[in-house]
Amino acid sequence: LQAETEAALAAAGDLRALDAVRVGTLGKSGTLTALLKGLGQVPAEQRKERGAALNRLKGALEAAIESRRVELDAAALEARLLAERMDVTLPPRPFPPAGPEAGAIHPIGRTVEELTAIFGAMGFGVAEGPDIEGDWFNFGALNIPDHHPARQDHDTFYLPAGPDGRRPVLRTHTSPVQIRTMLSQEPPLRVIVPGRTYRADHDATHSPMFHQVEGLVIDRGITLAHLKGCLIDFLRAFFGISDLPVRFRASYFPFTEPSMEVDIGWNRKTGELGKAKGGDNDWLEILGSGMVHPKVLANCGIDPREWQGFAFGMGIERITMLKHGIPDLRPFYESDVRWLRHYGAPV
Ligand code: PHE
Repeated sequence: LQAETEAALAAAGDLRALDAVRVGTLGKSGTLTALLKGLGQVPAEQRKERGAALNRLKGALEAAIESRRVELDAAALEARLLAERMDVTLPPRPFPPAGPEAGAIHPIGRTVEELTAIFGAMGFGVAEGPDIEGDWFNFGALNIPDHHPARQDHDTFYLPAGPDGRRPVLRTHTSPVQIRTMLSQEPPLRVIVPGRTYRADHDATHSPMFHQVEGLVIDRGITLAHLKGCLIDFLRAFFGISDLPVRFRASYFPFTEPSMEVDIGWNRKTGELGKAKGGDNDWLEILGSGMVHPKVLANCGIDPREWQGFAFGMGIERITMLKHGIPDLRPFYESDVRWLRHYGAPV
């Protein structure tokens, strides 16, 4: 039996064949198992010797099977390595792909890159926060208490209540990241916050998901003049029009005091941005801004007698549409590669 099994093992060319040999000898109805079961019928005086011999044989067969398994494993690995071998000296394929294969940087990403570069040159870093926000971050800390009418303006998407009984929201603006930044960093601060925002509003000019960029500056002795200078410089650089008219108009936000909406000049007849003559001159609202409300500073543990600041927020789709003359909001979310190549940036 030993010689027979060893021959079968040598013939077993792979792990499956090996397993068949193992089952055929040591398995439930294997040959050796049958011999062991038959021990009961052997006369008592021979039984001890024969039992010991069979057990030795069993040990020998088990060892032979195991060593064949190690051999076959090594052979299988060797075969796989050969099959999967690659030539690392081959020249790479061109990346990114050129010609009709090439995609483009989405106009939103392109605008974010441009914004980041302009504000970066003014010393701003980039901060980010979660899309799902606590009620306190999105509203409460920003001086928008429960039942404040400003809550109605936000068309908020609410999520099921958490353990504190309050319902988290999809952030309706990037302003909660003002709070997160003030809580996690020591002033002075200078950050912009590009990101997704959500409002339950859907028509030709509104999407339930859109993008904003927030700005926050906190330092000693910050005034409205800093806010105005910073935003005028940004708008002229972003639109590439050095004499772009910029107008600051008194407004209201719960988290800034005073608050201002900012308009830029355009030609109402031709739709062109910039300074227009006489009756063709008109204004387009472009962003919200103001001096950070002392209550908001205090909510973040910052002493408003020592630190002042300004903040602003604008819609990224809107400034992108104005800059590139994009007439329709919907293609931003449709991934049509022809539109992307037309309004996006080359990769
Ligand atoms: N969060 C405001 C909005 O979404 C914009 C804003 C930001 C206004 C910062 C003032 C200061 O409309």
